[in-house]
Amino acid sequence: MEMANPSQDATAFGVYVHWPFCAAKCPYCDFNSHVRHGGIDEARFAAALTLEIATIAARVPDRRVSSIFLGGGTPSLMRPQTVAAILNAVSKAWPVARDAEITLEANPSSVEADRFRGYRAAGVNRISLGVQSLMDADLKALGRLHNAAQARAAVEIGRTVFARLSFDLIYARPGQTLNGWRAELEEAIAMAGDHLSLYQLTIEPGTPYAALHASGKLAVPEPDALADFYALTQDITAANGLPAYEISNHAIAGGQSRHNLTYWRYQDYAGIGPGAHGRLTVDGVKRAMMSEKHPETWAGRVETAGHGLIVDEPLSREEAADEMLLMGLRLREGLSTRRYEAVSGRPFDPRRLADLRTHGMIETVAGDRLRATPAGWMVLDALVADIAA
Ligand SMILES: C[S@@+](CC[C@H](N)C(=O)[O-])C[C@H]1O[C@@H](n2cnc3c(N)ncnc32)[C@H](O)[C@@H]1O
Ligand code: SF4
Repeated sequence: MEMANPSQDATAFGVYVHWPFCAAKCPYCDFNSHVRHGGIDEARFAAALTLEIATIAARVPDRRVSSIFLGGGTPSLMRPQTVAAILNAVSKAWPVARDAEITLEANPSSVEADRFRGYRAAGVNRISLGVQSLMDADLKALGRLHNAAQARAAVEIGRTVFARLSFDLIYARPGQTLNGWRAELEEAIAMAGDHLSLYQLTIEPGTPYAALHASGKLAVPEPDALADFYALTQDITAANGLPAYEISNHAIAGGQSRHNLTYWRYQDYAGIGPGAHGRLTVDGVKRAMMSEKHPETWAGRVETAGHGLIVDEPLSREEAADEMLLMGLRLREGLSTRRYEAVSGRPFDPRRLADLRTHGMIETVAGDRLRATPAGWMVLDALVADIAA
C-alpha cells in the first residue's frame, strides 16, 4: 500500500475555523452546531473570527500555514464573501504556503454552483460534502434535508468546480444490510473524487438517537455485524484504489487530507471559532486550547478579550505522548517510536508491545514505526490504554 511520506510535512501547520450553524440539527449529531431561525449575523461572526485569528497568531507568529479547514456545523451556509474575509484574515496573520490545502465542508442541500464558484474565487481548493447516504429513505431517517439526487448533483458540481473533493458517508445505520452497504459503497466509489470519509454510526450520548436507542426504537447492527461492515468497507475500498490511510478515511495516492494528517501526526494547529480545539507549541511546550462553545457567548468574549479561549494550558510530557499515541495509531503509516519516546521521555515497554504483536494488534514497519493492524483499529481505545499504561 502507498504510504504517505511521514517526513514530507515536518513543519506542517493547520488552521481550523469552526462555523457553528446548521439549517437543522440532525438527530445523531453532537457536534457544536446550532440552528438560528432568526438568521445569523454573518458580519459579526466574520469580524470575531478575524479578531481571534489575529490574537492567536500573535502567540505563534513564526508559522507558515500548510492547510486551512473551514468545518462545522455547515460552513456552506456562509456567503462566499464571509469565506473570503476569513481566508484573508488567515493570510494577514501568517504566510500561507502557495500549495496550501484549503477545505470547506458543505451540505448537499446548501449547494449552488455559483456559491461553489464563489468559494473557489475566495481561495477554497478542496470541498468535503456531507452526503451521508445515497438512499432517500435513509437520508430521511437520518433527519437530513437533502435527498440522494441532490447528493449526486452536489458531488458532480463539486468535482467540476474544485480540484479536490471528498464526501462523507455514515454506515452501519439502523436496518442497513451488508449487501445494501456494498451496493451503496460501490456507487459512492464510482462517484468519488480523491478522498472518502466512511464513518460507522456512533450513538452519541444526549442526542435524540441515544434516547431512541435506549428505548429500543433504534436497532443498530450488533458488534459482530459491525466487524463485518468494517471488513467489507476495508476490502471494497482497497480493491478500488481508495484504501484506508486512517480508521475512517480513504484516499487515492496523494489524495490524503493534509489538514487531518496534521492532527493525526500530532503537529501544530490553531483552532478558531466557537468550541474549536487547538494544539500549539509555544516556547517549546505543547499547549491545549479550546474556545467557548456557545456561538454568541464566544463572539461576546472575542469582542471584549480578543479571543474566546476557555482552556489554554500546557500539556505534560505524558499527556502529550498519550495524545500522540492515540492520534498516530489511527494512521496506516503509524507513528515514529523515536518521536514518541522523545516526547514522553521514556521508552515503550517491550514486553507489552511483544504481547500485542503476538495477538496481531500492532506491527512495526519501516524500521521504527509502530502501527495498529486492522484488528487493532477495531479496539483502538483499549489498545492505546494498554500501550500507554
Ligand atoms: C461535523 S459533520 C460536518 C459536515 C456537514 N455538517 C454535514 O453533516 O453534512 C462531519 C461528519 O461527521 C459525521 N458524523 C456526525 N455525527 C456522526 C455520528 N453520530 N456517527 C457517525 N458519523 C457522524 C458525518 O458524516 C458528517 O458529515
Ligand atoms: S448538518 Fe452536519 S454538523 Fe449540522 S447537525 Fe447535521 S451532522 Fe451535525
